[in-house]
Amino acid sequence: MNVLMAAPEVFPYAKTGGLADAAASLAAELARTKHKVLVVLPFYRTVKERFPAPSAGGPFEVRMGGVAFAGMLRRRENVVFIECDRFYDRPELYGTASGDYPDNPQRFVFFSRAVFEAARLCGFRPDIIHCHDWQAGLAPVYLKTVYGRDPFFAGARSVLTIHNMGYQGVFPAEVMRMAGLPGDLFNPEGVEFYGKMNFLKAGIIWADSLTTVSPTYANQIQTPEHGFGLDGVLRKRAGRLRGIANGIDDCLWNPARDRHIPENYSPGNDLAGKAACKKKLSSLCGFKDPARPLVSFVGRLSYQKGADIAAAVAGEAVSEGVNLLFLGKGDERYQRELEALGERYPGGVYVRVGFDEEFSHLVYAGSDIFLMPSRYEPCGLGQMIALRYGTPPVAADTGGISDTVRNYLPLSGDGTGFLFPEASPGSLRQSLWYALCVHRQAERWEGVIRNGMSVDFSWRKPAARYLEIYKEALGQVPREKSPVPAPLRGPRPLKGSSTLKDTGSLKGPGPRLD
Ligand code: ADP
Ligand code: GLC
Repeated sequence: MNVLMAAPEVFPYAKTGGLADAAASLAAELARTKHKVLVVLPFYRTVKERFPAPSAGGPFEVRMGGVAFAGMLRRRENVVFIECDRFYDRPELYGTASGDYPDNPQRFVFFSRAVFEAARLCGFRPDIIHCHDWQAGLAPVYLKTVYGRDPFFAGARSVLTIHNMGYQGVFPAEVMRMAGLPGDLFNPEGVEFYGKMNFLKAGIIWADSLTTVSPTYANQIQTPEHGFGLDGVLRKRAGRLRGIANGIDDCLWNPARDRHIPENYSPGNDLAGKAACKKKLSSLCGFKDPARPLVSFVGRLSYQKGADIAAAVAGEAVSEGVNLLFLGKGDERYQRELEALGERYPGGVYVRVGFDEEFSHLVYAGSDIFLMPSRYEPCGLGQMIALRYGTPPVAADTGGISDTVRNYLPLSGDGTGFLFPEASPGSLRQSLWYALCVHRQAERWEGVIRNGMSVDFSWRKPAARYLEIYKEALGQVPREKSPVPAPLRGPRPLKGSSTLKDTGSLKGPGPRLD
């Protein structure tokens, strides 16, 4: 089978979040099988500067709004980059802290079309075009329209993976014309969304199969609380939708071999290496009392991730004897809020605003507790990485977190972390205090650490599930019956969440439902 993977970000080339890791790891795992994978992503400035790639064909042309735009291909092994400097030679991927790039519709219409041009120029006849998120959301429509008559793509089927319903790529109606799509698709059964054009909705409707990144989230997005206006469309397409929890790259994220940490450790040894990591991290952060429990947050600074919820309990946590660390990048207002917090509690709260992959390894390894107060979480990789590094999460019981963290049970000693039912400061506070009490009981705590470190979060099983989905889409095996949605647990519906605007500039346009 030939799988063309179209993703707006892929690790290590370009990354703002877990999508980059998921796309890279899935592609790598599939490439280990007998199947062929071609990964396609834009040739952003960050790629250009750090990953020289020889030219691999072109120029090709994409017409948008009557104007022809030229693109070129670059290639490193099975990864093909779409080069078009006017769209991708920018400091960031989707926008800066103050907002999205205004020409994002052009940038990703171009990308969704260029994917087909790249396949053709590389002589790679795809059986499956696997698209990720709104940025590639139009590719399934193009497969059924513009490229539908092209014999090169005859028999190809599309799969769309939804990594986050909070980002849908919603743009003014006139983008239809620029995208070269027939006007009769602009209706409520098509790409129209409250008078605008919605790229993710297009993908949801036209993809042959749909997946999202955890079973719980697959259920949640069919409800008004988590569907961000598309729950009805998703309910209609439920027979095509599956939830497959991500894994993590267990070579890259392996405390026994990690080159970014001062000492390695594994569940088989005495965890002394973890203590050395904490020592190094504490000294880098300048904590006054490095013996205190170290509680850390790593993530995009957006409404979704709830860094503000963690910030709301920071003062209390510090006065209760905790050191706090925040590593994040995102919306300006959260960046400012956290920086102010760091200044208010010098030696007790350390804040690093920025994206620092290498430092994040030391944070996962050197912390005692990982905080994840997400308001919603499609899958979440942070909690899995933290578990692998022996850092039990204190996390909101939602989405993929519910599917990957087992709540601690004091009687049996089972469990890998501490889940709280509602993304609120009160709920987080209680769960954190509980975790800190267990932390004081060395033997019990070590049990929780070891439980977490022994879970298999590799990509082997998820990749096998994706192969099944591809076969279903190609009609090679009958479609599995769609699972009956399980009753949802986790956070109560957030008041007004269906109208929230998680525009998160680092991820591009959100639903903008107001
Ligand atoms: P999301 O994709 O919603 O941002 P995930 O938990 O799926 O969240 O994945 C986030 C990934 O990005 C993890 O690998 C995490 O370690 C990483 N990450 C997030 N913010 C930063 C940062 N500021 N510096 C380094 N790594 C980060
Ligand atoms: C999204 C989600 C996150 C998920 C990641 C990779 O960005 O917010 O929960 O882990 O995609 O699928």
